[in-house]
Amino acid sequence: MQMHHYDTATEKMAQLCFGYATQRLRLDPVPLDHPMSLAELDAAVGPTISAAGHDPEQVIGWFRDVLAPACISADSPAFLSFIPVAPTKASQLFDVIVSSSAICASDWLEGAGAIYAENQALRWLADLAEFPSTSGGVFVSGGSAANLSALVAARASIAETRDRPPRWRVALADQAHSSLVNTLRIMDVDALTIPTGPDDRLTGEALRAALDADPDAGSIFAVVATAGTTNSGSIDDLAGIADVAHERALWVHVDGAYGLAGLAAPSIRDHFAGIERADSFVVDPHKWLFAPFDCAALLYRNPETARHAHSQMAPYLDSMRATEEWNPADYAYHLTRRARGLPFWFSLAVHGTDAYRDAVEATLDIARDAARRIDAAPHLELILHPELTAVLWRRTGWSHEQYYEWSNAMLRDQRAFVMPTTFHGETVFRDIAFDHS
Ligand SMILES: Cc1ncc(COP(=O)(O)O)c(C=O)c1O
Repeated sequence: MQMHHYDTATEKMAQLCFGYATQRLRLDPVPLDHPMSLAELDAAVGPTISAAGHDPEQVIGWFRDVLAPACISADSPAFLSFIPVAPTKASQLFDVIVSSSAICASDWLEGAGAIYAENQALRWLADLAEFPSTSGGVFVSGGSAANLSALVAARASIAETRDRPPRWRVALADQAHSSLVNTLRIMDVDALTIPTGPDDRLTGEALRAALDADPDAGSIFAVVATAGTTNSGSIDDLAGIADVAHERALWVHVDGAYGLAGLAAPSIRDHFAGIERADSFVVDPHKWLFAPFDCAALLYRNPETARHAHSQMAPYLDSMRATEEWNPADYAYHLTRRARGLPFWFSLAVHGTDAYRDAVEATLDIARDAARRIDAAPHLELILHPELTAVLWRRTGWSHEQYYEWSNAMLRDQRAFVMPTTFHGETVFRDIAFDHS
């Protein structure tokens, strides 16, 4: 059996796959769909992998008729939970091209053209943050991978300037994303967790007070600020945090996986004042910059520090090291990497950055409109005025169970995917607005 040649069987399979992809891309609106239980999937599909293989038509049929509808579509306009995604058609189409090309974008030797284009997309993000022209970074799989890579670079950089304490620590707010807790666990680093107030926001003063009160502050190597908490969309006081952290020679990492897309929106640009003084930041185009999964942009003010921390050395990699050009593998914990920034780059190149500015602004308008409607409804209460696109609201008088019963019914009836969250100990609703136009 031929697996690598473009023969008539492959041609037939291409028509099947591109036919399905085209039909999926044409869906408007994209239906929500819903998960199925393991028993239901077993009954509907069962084992798909056999020694002899199956006709592609049958396998695509399993996917089209059962497996795909058993996944909630994060690009459905009815998807209002977690963090939705609305990839542009251009980015989705180019993802097909990336998959049809075998580009290893770890290093310039293998992936020069792809890296050249990816770096222009990174440059647009760096410019939005007013990072210097010498800054640079890499597209990684997600905010979690970026947070881990940035803090590994931070520790390596600070370790060059200080004696190693018995335990390294990182200062972060109680609202920092769960991936950071995980990052610290992986790095075997302790946390100085700083409580935030009712608005979920870490301020420079709170950071200063926590560091002043800490008997072991010398073990802290970095401060993580969040530009858009996942639960409520609050933006930390980036300028105040940078002031305090840099007085003490601490690395500032800004986790803007969700919220830093807001840099593109003039109406809220001032909320991010201070981002230009961060040492590293992450923003996920697969969240609010209309790129398909998985695409996160990690930027360093001084990429050289990250290169020292992350470069991998092996005899078989010597040829890759022979160039002075950009090797993306050097800026995160990975080696082989998909050119996952290209779908985002293609869409930016085709649509232009004004279209991105307008789409981010449009999303903010949707969130503000939702907040107004909630405010006006007698049976609903707006909990926080949305700073970004997360809208938190209460259904007056409802119990925890009623929230979940309503959410489940909404999903069952395919009306919306709106999951409750917990805000300061209370079960409430959280919607994330998105622009699908
Ligand atoms: C603020 C923040 N940081 C980090 C992450 C983790 O990003 P990812 O899911 O892309 O790994 C998320 C995801 O929701 C997030 O909202």
